[in-house]
Amino acid sequence: MAAPIDVDEIPGPRGVPFLGNVFDIDSHSPVEGLVQMARQYGPIYKVSVPAGTRLMISDPDLVNEICDDARFDKKISAGLAVLSQSLAGRGLFTSETTDPLWQRAHNILMAPFSLQAMRDYIPRMLDIANQLTDKWTRLNPGDEVDVPASMTALTLDTIALCGFDYRFNSFYRDTPHPFVEAMVRSLLTAQARARRLPALNRLRIREQRQLGDDQTFMKDLVGKLISERRQQGGAADNSDLLGRMLTGVDPQSGKGLPDDNIISQCLTFLIAGHETTSGLISFAIYYLVKNPDYAKRARTEIDEVFGDSASPSYEQVHRLTYVLQILEESLRLWPTAPLSTRTPRTDTVIGGRYAVPAGIGLTVLIPMLHRHQGVWGADVEQFNPDHLSPQHKTALPPNAYKPFGTGQRACIGRQFALQEATLVLGMLLKRFELVDHLNYQLKTKQTLTVKPDEFRIQVRAREGRTLPRRGVAPTAARAAWAKADPAVPPVPATAQHGTPLRVLFGSNLGTAEAIANKLASEGTERGFAVILGPLDDHIDDVPADGAILLVCSSYNGTPPENGVAFCRWLRDPKTPKDACAGASYAVFGCGDTQWAATYQAVPKLLDTELEEHGARRIHARGAGDAEADFDGQYRAWHDGLWRDVAAALNLPSSAAEPASTAPRLSISIVNRQLTNPVILSYKAHPARVRENRELW
Ligand code: HEM
Ligand SMILES: Cc1cc2nc3c(=O)[nH]c(=O)nc-3n(C[C@H](O)[C@H](O)[C@H](O)COP(=O)(O)O)c2cc1C
Repeated sequence: MAAPIDVDEIPGPRGVPFLGNVFDIDSHSPVEGLVQMARQYGPIYKVSVPAGTRLMISDPDLVNEICDDARFDKKISAGLAVLSQSLAGRGLFTSETTDPLWQRAHNILMAPFSLQAMRDYIPRMLDIANQLTDKWTRLNPGDEVDVPASMTALTLDTIALCGFDYRFNSFYRDTPHPFVEAMVRSLLTAQARARRLPALNRLRIREQRQLGDDQTFMKDLVGKLISERRQQGGAADNSDLLGRMLTGVDPQSGKGLPDDNIISQCLTFLIAGHETTSGLISFAIYYLVKNPDYAKRARTEIDEVFGDSASPSYEQVHRLTYVLQILEESLRLWPTAPLSTRTPRTDTVIGGRYAVPAGIGLTVLIPMLHRHQGVWGADVEQFNPDHLSPQHKTALPPNAYKPFGTGQRACIGRQFALQEATLVLGMLLKRFELVDHLNYQLKTKQTLTVKPDEFRIQVRAREGRTLPRRGVAPTAARAAWAKADPAVPPVPATAQHGTPLRVLFGSNLGTAEAIANKLASEGTERGFAVILGPLDDHIDDVPADGAILLVCSSYNGTPPENGVAFCRWLRDPKTPKDACAGASYAVFGCGDTQWAATYQAVPKLLDTELEEHGARRIHARGAGDAEADFDGQYRAWHDGLWRDVAAALNLPSSAAEPASTAPRLSISIVNRQLTNPVILSYKAHPARVRENRELW
């Protein structure tokens, strides 16, 4: 074998002493420059900046290799470290994977970001989307809309309302909310500081002071929301992310999140959740105004699915599969978070030839990865939603499409973003013609994320498509999770019999993991000694005592990242036929019939291989389809699950049922006026109607 190629020998622009390639990278739109360099230097090249050397990677095989969480981890780059110090603290985005608080927050937040939880956010998302459409409806002919600015207002207000029931009311203001001003200023400063030498940053005293003031202002505001929520006690509506962080307990450590970390998470959601999604909707609008045929096809779907509904439902939004394809194709050409940096856990060789030391930054240049002809075909540079049709998705090589990052550090907000963007694009196309009156030519601008620069259009109400006025303002989605969730009342712990229960999951994006978390909590409430973890932590560990519940998804017929090794072990001819002898198990699969040929491939494999290796199925395999009534299918599987587990293990019925001695129901009388989020956030008071007459 040829000698490995060292980092020094990897090609790249030459650069200057100390500052490396700083001057080769255009600060207005660095990613376009990096893409150009990839065209010049190839699928792996080297750039140096004051913070160190990075390898920029866009070859699908190399990317697939560095996505392996066992050998590589996310790298907290200099930019992320500055963001952490200046704004996001130990939030999910900027923390090391080894930070115990990252794991705790990840475990707690998986459920509120799962597909199942998305139903809860629809009313709040609709509330803000209606504000945008109302504003656009009232524009005069000839008025322009600044697309990225409108979408940034929309996504920021949406994440604030869904995140912590706070209204920035961006559509009702002439200038940004002071919190938004502080956040934007801090983000820009953090980015500038990441590009400078640390010594120069220390000299910028006024900048540091402003950063400190902004930080204090933002933390105080979120801190105040937390204390107000605590004061509301049992009457609080905790269905938003803040409520779930305040009440959530990590099943693994049994601990909740400290308040300062909750503040960091709220700031993180604002930062990570608004520009990315606003850029996505803006790019999609750009591609639609340039491709009227795709817009027409999308409108046909939207008219059919939405019909005359004034407020689309969760089911309707999730039936807009062509709109989703448009969004996914926009993310292919312009992934709005275009870089994701990994690092080897130990010195290693990648691609069989490049020797890379532990700790070096390996940055996936996602826009270039997504422009690989071998994967996408000759029209790779063209916008064509068929690139992301179900059939094409099925045929994609693993990790060839990566707009949301990878593995355990993948985007937790993916389903939130896609639901919000689908809903908004659906509503806009339903109501408006989008007019490219300036014949806009795409140029991008990059801050933390990338978006179209100076993109303005005109909008006109679509003939005959004025939707009926909404009767009432949508209320917050309280307790919708309870509707979607099997009827498992919160119960006092039953007698601790301590029977082992392993709840194992294989999950990339958190759906299966959130279900596993829920099952683990239910098991604990029923007196089991629960071990919760990814499948790959339990290779050759399928013991006969107790029971094992497995929840797993599939990706193009292959296992999610944290289940690859477990499945490989099960299928390995060298694995003894009795490797799972006597174990009692049940499987639930999370899948999507859009991947028809490989629907539920991995859950099916687990179910049959476990049986073939001597384990005993104690409850029939369940299958949830994201295209159908996933919640109903899960409920059907869950019915009788605990009864079957208890019966199979010869446990008393108390292990299947919640303890019966304590009250099964608790009733709290709720004053709607005190708890209605619309009333709360506007600080509204009752008033007498003195006169009611038509004004024109
Ligand atoms: C189109 C919209 C979005 C895109 C393209 C996107 C993309 C990404 C990417 C590529 C990563 C991985 C970053 C890395 O490897 O360093 C990431 C992580 C993350 N995203 Fe998103 N994101 C989007 C929307 C959202 C939303 C709406 C939220 C929250 C409401 C969110 C919250 C996060 C968080 C918290 C992380 C860090 C997860 C962790 O490391 O545990 N994102 N996102
Ligand atoms: C790129 C991609 C490929 C997928 N491939 C399959 C598949 O082959 N079979 C299937 O049933 N579901 C497939 N799905 C659907 C996921 O398995 C489903 O969304 C699941 O709920 C994700 O669970 P997770 O969030 O726990 O990873 C795929 C989804 C994506 C995004």
